Formats: sequence, C-alpha cells, structure tokens
Amino acid sequence: MSARRAGEVVEAFGDGHLIRARRGFRPCRWAFDVARFAPARAGDRVLDLGCGVGVLLCALRQLHPDLGACVGVEIDSAEVGRAARNLDGRVVRGDVRALPVAPRAFDLVLANPPFYPAGWGRSSRGREGATHALAGDVGDFAKAAEQALSPHGRVVFVYDAGHLTTLLLAFAGAGLTVRRLRFLDDDRRRPARVLALAGRDGGGLAVERLVFKGG
Ligand SMILES: C[S@@+](CC[C@H](N)C(=O)[O-])C[C@H]1O[C@@H](n2cnc3c(N)ncnc32)[C@H](O)[C@@H]1O
Repeated sequence: MSARRAGEVVEAFGDGHLIRARRGFRPCRWAFDVARFAPARAGDRVLDLGCGVGVLLCALRQLHPDLGACVGVEIDSAEVGRAARNLDGRVVRGDVRALPVAPRAFDLVLANPPFYPAGWGRSSRGREGATHALAGDVGDFAKAAEQALSPHGRVVFVYDAGHLTTLLLAFAGAGLTVRRLRFLDDDRRRPARVLALAGRDGGGLAVERLVFKGG
C-alpha cells in the first residue's frame, strides 16, 4: 500500500490498513458486516458504486481473497486517489448516473449511497457529498446497480434503517426484488443500518437483526 499524503491518516483495518482523509467522511464502520452479509463467490466480478476510499471492497477482499476483478466508481477525485491506493486496483472516477463501466458485467454490486436529502440538517464541513444526495439519490444508485448487474447477479446496499421505505421503493423502481434484510444495531441497541440483498428474480423475504455486542 502506498504511503499517506498530507491531510490523510492510515488506520488499521482488519488484517490490513486503510487510508482516509483526516477531516473527511469516515468510511463505513459496518464494512465487515456488509462483507459477511454479501453472498460473494470465488471469481465474482464486484462493483462498488460510490466507493469512497474503497472500504467495502477492502473488507470483502479480506474475507474472500478469491474474488475476480473488483472495481470502484466514485465521483470525488480525492477519494478516487485514496481508493486506488487502498485497493491497488481499478477505481474509475465517474458518476453513477452515467455509469462509466460495462453494463451487465458484475456478479455482485455493493453500495453505501448517501441517504440525506440535499440541504437536510446542519452542514457537515464539506462531507455533504458523501452523506447527502447532491449528485443523485438512492434511486439513481439502484438503477446503476441494475444496469451493471449480470443476469443472475446480486446487489447489496447498506442504508440508514430509518429510511428503509425509500430504499425499498428505489429497488422496486429499478426492477430489483429484495430477498433479505438484516438490521444492524448501534451501541444504544437500536437498529441503525439495514443491509439489503436484492436481485432481478426471487421470491420471499428473510428479515434478520444483528444485536450490538460492544466494541
Ligand atoms: C455514504 S458515502 C460511502 C463511501 C464508501 N462506500 C463507504 O462505505 O464508506 C457515499 C459515496 O458516494 C459518492 N457519490 C455520491 N454521489 C455519487 C455519484 N453520483 N456517482 C458516484 N459517486 C457518488 C460520494 O462521493 C461518497 O464517496
């Protein structure tokens, strides 16, 4: 992994390290939960939409070293640079609303889309592009996931549990069926995030809850 640059920190991350901006958006703290939830198989081609510093792919690759090509798409050029160093791999600067990768080419598509509406709440010191839907919302991410997905591929999104309805509508609008939901508790033992597995086909929905055990 390349060394950090000014304004960056390097943190221990599982068996490895992760470079992130000192003052920027904090990479997803549920990345290993996402990686355990995702039905990854050997050789899978994986796409991360809005990859930030690449945290979801870093976690997934630690748990599944036998994956196929892993690609991140990210709109923020500074995050693209960090992701490229974290992943030692292919990171494309681009907008999920004009998907800069081949359609139907990925077996597994991951995303942690921004979930606050533009202008919502207090300013978060330049992190709004990661937390607020300034360049498209979860509906745009779901449509991009559907476009990128191979015929029998799977999609995994991590999203704010309180905005579950928006997430389900986004999947339905993109023609994706949700098969499994897992709620992740925060340290107050309340559901904080929801993990959703979806695909083009399938019936029945399994709902799970993972209680917070500390740490
Ligand atoms: C909630 S952050 C998630 C970052 C990282 N995947 C993680 O889990 O920590 C959302 C990311 O999506 C990126 N993003 C927002 N709109 C985008 C768009 N239209 N195209 C590509 N990336 C976008 C943001 O810059 C940000 O890095």
